[in-house]
Amino acid sequence: MCLFWMKTAQVWRLGVGDMPILPGSRHRPPLKRPVWIIVLVSLVSIFLICAYVYPPRSSTACYMFSSNGCKVFADWLPPAPAREYSDEEIASHVVIKDILNMPPLESKNPKIAFMFLTPGTLPFEKLWDKFFYGHDGRFSVYVHASREKPTHVSRHFINQDIRSDKVVWGKISMVDAEKRLLANALKDPDNQHFVLLSDSCVPLHDFDYVYNYLMYTNISFIDSFEDPGPHGSGRYSEHMLPEVEKKDFRKGAQWFSMKRQHALVVLADSLYFSKFREYCRPGMEQGRNCYSDEHYLPTFFYMIDPGGIANWSVTHVDWSEGKWHPKSYRAKDVTYELLKNITSIDESVHVTSDVRKEVQIRPCLWNGMKRPCYLFARKFYPETLGVLMQLFSNYTTV
Ligand SMILES: *[C@@H]1O[C@H](CO)[C@@H](O)[C@H](O)[C@H]1NC(C)=O
Ligand SMILES: *[C@@H]1O[C@H](CO)[C@@H](O)[C@H](O)[C@H]1NC(C)=O
Ligand SMILES: *[C@@H]1O[C@H](CO)[C@@H](O)[C@H](O)[C@H]1NC(C)=O
Ligand SMILES: *[C@@H]1O[C@H](CO)[C@@H](O)[C@H](O)[C@H]1NC(C)=O
Repeated sequence: MCLFWMKTAQVWRLGVGDMPILPGSRHRPPLKRPVWIIVLVSLVSIFLICAYVYPPRSSTACYMFSSNGCKVFADWLPPAPAREYSDEEIASHVVIKDILNMPPLESKNPKIAFMFLTPGTLPFEKLWDKFFYGHDGRFSVYVHASREKPTHVSRHFINQDIRSDKVVWGKISMVDAEKRLLANALKDPDNQHFVLLSDSCVPLHDFDYVYNYLMYTNISFIDSFEDPGPHGSGRYSEHMLPEVEKKDFRKGAQWFSMKRQHALVVLADSLYFSKFREYCRPGMEQGRNCYSDEHYLPTFFYMIDPGGIANWSVTHVDWSEGKWHPKSYRAKDVTYELLKNITSIDESVHVTSDVRKEVQIRPCLWNGMKRPCYLFARKFYPETLGVLMQLFSNYTTV
């Protein structure tokens, strides 16, 4: 209602002294002077009241108010105040800002934390054992087994199970498990970088390559892109307002790797996390589904530290078949050529889920240089273990 009045009032304001060109005015009976002055004065007053009570808040609002953009208003209205933040938001912003500005924790013995999220026994423990061999002291391992107690075959994995809880696919319990892994891994001050892996993930390079790739950069590899389609912003709920706006809603694969400050920020956040816990879940209103593990971290980091994330994940997965699940490799698929193909990819690809199916291709830049994007890959069936063990020393040789 105010919108309508403001529009009308603006036409009047611009048209003052130029009455005859107002649309439609030619066919109206001429108003007597006192009448149109009263009408004009009241319209202008309503407009001013409206403009005062509902100042244009964003550029979208400006477009709604005036097709000339905001200029007309900006010249004579006081600057629009930012939204008033709640106590929780103010507290959250200062905590996040301070953590992000903290210098990295000095460590004489910096380590990478490998955090495995698995239902039970890890099928590729032997392969990882080969990967870790000879690098004791430069990594730590954490296993969150959500369904059954795993049996371990590698000494690097024995006694590395953390207390776990049930994980339901697509539900917030998935993010809870990720946070549980981060909390346990953060207890060791030597851990500087935190990699989340699944039971179907395998390494694509040798340990030194992975260590240097993750340690000698100051960004986190968190996948994040804007998907205006039904499987992206279509999952957004306005209940997340005012803290999370639709324009900030992002999507990305859950398999992250992050630096220590980012891991701390994730544990420090309860405000944004609670928004996703309540309003981004499977089976919400009108049968809409939202999956927090695909949206919480991509959105959160886009909002708080967009320049601090790479926007792609170092774990490769092949969605090119366009099915509900990514391609899973069988033993017969795994060849030297396949692994070389994956390790040579140096551009990240995102495809939107709207009708346009827009393909966004970006070079993978590591400290400003174009580099292969991926350190790990999924999804591999357990039957591929043998062939991967045979090929490992070959395909990881650069
Ligand atoms: C990372 O380091 C580079 C140079 O060393 C610096 O320009 C950049 O601002 C840093 N980025 C972050 C997110 O700290
Ligand atoms: C990631 O994307 C954000 C927003 O789209 C951008 O500001 C940021 O620079 C990107 N990060 C890198 C490392 O390019
Ligand atoms: C490897 O990549 C080449 C060129 O893109 C392609 O022709 C070939 O089929 C790929 N091989 C495998 C095993 O994926
Ligand atoms: C790895 O295997 C391929 C194909 O079997 C072979 O051509 C290549 O020479 C091998 N490379 C190394 C470093 O052993």
